[in-house]
Amino acid sequence: MKEKLLSLRQSAEKDLHSASTSKELEEIRIRYLGKKGELTAILKQMGSLPPEERPIMGALANEVRQLIEEMLQSRSVEIERLELENRLLREDLDITLPSKRRPLGHKHPMNILLDEIKDLFRGMGFEIAEGPEVETTYYNFTALNTPEGHPSRDMQDTFYFSDDVLLRTQTSSVQIRVMENRQPPIRVIAPGRVYRKDEVDATHSPMFHQIEGLVVDKGITMGDLKGTLDAVFKQLYGPQSKTRFRPHYFPFTEPSAEMDLMCFACHGKGCRVCKGEGWIEMLGCGMVHPKVLEYCNIDPEIYTGYAFGMGTDRMAMMRYKVNDMRLFFENDMRFLAQF
Ligand code: DAH
Repeated sequence: MKEKLLSLRQSAEKDLHSASTSKELEEIRIRYLGKKGELTAILKQMGSLPPEERPIMGALANEVRQLIEEMLQSRSVEIERLELENRLLREDLDITLPSKRRPLGHKHPMNILLDEIKDLFRGMGFEIAEGPEVETTYYNFTALNTPEGHPSRDMQDTFYFSDDVLLRTQTSSVQIRVMENRQPPIRVIAPGRVYRKDEVDATHSPMFHQIEGLVVDKGITMGDLKGTLDAVFKQLYGPQSKTRFRPHYFPFTEPSAEMDLMCFACHGKGCRVCKGEGWIEMLGCGMVHPKVLEYCNIDPEIYTGYAFGMGTDRMAMMRYKVNDMRLFFENDMRFLAQF
């Protein structure tokens, strides 16, 4: 029995030495020390020994068990260390490498300009107003003194959902929403998207942007309108910029005008940018029609007002010297990253 115990110790030592994974170690532990293991098998034969030998063999068996346990323990520490080293090698993670850059976006050029314009008007005491893009014919046309049958209501120009619900064709609808809720003094701008059935080309899009302006108070005149817009456009396009006002017609203003900006490319001489005109049309404007004030329960005998609506897409094209409006909407990073 002594030999058996000693050779058991030896072979355990050999097995442990060649074990290289914790799974193998566990198998060795079970093989030698488990309930059905080899050491247990030897101890079962204890009964066949003469009584005086039993304590001696018992002590030896305990010694062997202890020794194997100690070897298991120290081998398992070694193997864990080896396994960790292997894993680190395999995963090959170098935490000192610089991280991947997450590109940081920035404002769309249209919003850069829009924020600039908002700031200019805020500085003059204007508030920012908003209205829905899905509108009713009442706000988009009727209350703006645009009667049934007026050509601008035409099915061919307007996206209708039903007879009286549509995608707004102009931000002028916000004028009504502002005025019907309060009395003067009113000083607001309303930026937003508008929709018309236009074919897409370099200067047209079925969705585009406008900024509406509305001022109503006692004693407001055309002079206030011209002075305000002139100041804004000098801020946006440089102090040498000139504006001019041409008579025009809009149903919701009387008198009405269109404002041109002297061509920034040729300074009025006439060139390709302004198609030989020397001036570029920028916006529609006028004095708020008394009927529009009446629709909103504002007394036209007491109050007067001016309004304007400008197309910000065209303004952005001029501001950034972009010759194709589609570039603003295609979301090509090569274009957008330039701003
Ligand atoms: N809503 C007009 C358009 O889309 C622009 C406009 C003209 C707005 C005159 C106004 C205005 O407020 O007074 O063509």
